[in-house]
Amino acid sequence: MDGTGKVVSMPGQRVRGFPAVKSYAVVERYGFVWVWPGDQAKADEAQMPVFSFFDDPAWAYGGGLYHVKADYRLMIDNLMDLTHETYVHATSIGQPEIDETPCETKIDGDKVVLQRHMDGIQAPPFWRMAMQANGLDPEAKVDRWQICRFSPPSHIMIDVGVALQGHGGFDAPADKKAYSVVVDFITPETETSHWYHWGMARNFKPDDAALTDSIRKGQGTIFGEDMEMLERQQANLLRWPERKLLMLNIDSGGVQARRVIDRLMAQETHTQEAA
Ligand SMILES: [Fe+2]
Repeated sequence: MDGTGKVVSMPGQRVRGFPAVKSYAVVERYGFVWVWPGDQAKADEAQMPVFSFFDDPAWAYGGGLYHVKADYRLMIDNLMDLTHETYVHATSIGQPEIDETPCETKIDGDKVVLQRHMDGIQAPPFWRMAMQANGLDPEAKVDRWQICRFSPPSHIMIDVGVALQGHGGFDAPADKKAYSVVVDFITPETETSHWYHWGMARNFKPDDAALTDSIRKGQGTIFGEDMEMLERQQANLLRWPERKLLMLNIDSGGVQARRVIDRLMAQETHTQEAA
């Protein structure tokens, strides 16, 4: 078949009358293949999100891929409520201050931003390692931030980091902080499974390949903890289909993201029915 889905040759077979398969608009960018599954006439590269750190030598990127046996929206819920870190990731990025600090949710069109700022705290193990790698005293008090940014259909970029206390937190100068972006590209597969492309982009010590490797390993272990939790959650949902998910205060980010998805899906279904 050629790039348009038309059959062009087959051994020992005349193919002129073969029906073409459906083709999709795709773009290769940032090391991923991006597919537009909707109305092909509306595929528009200009609508793609821009991630400048992928092409910027001041940043390093490492990541991996997990096949998760859970509805992709459970992963969105998970990433839009980092309160779970205290419990699911107790030995790496969790700490009690996460529970004690309320988060704030903002909706900007189709985007949902949820943030939490924890000031004057001790950094948890993962961030102590990052501080040390960036020449900062890992025992120093820090201001820590988590800013989760959801954009449809299912991308979540999370600004995470720590800065030496009192230097402006997220806005602190580069030599006073360790700052990264957690990259989450989620590709739905079935009603109960998805492909989870995860990674971390960092703007300190970008040439240190050993550091990229150790962060990737650490993140892989941490995200393996999420995967186990989500697959059990999905198994429970299948076991008790009559039970509904509760919406708690800490779920506001996930609830808002699901509303955006529901609205866009209703619009697309409506457009298809009208066509
Ligand atoms: Fe997690």
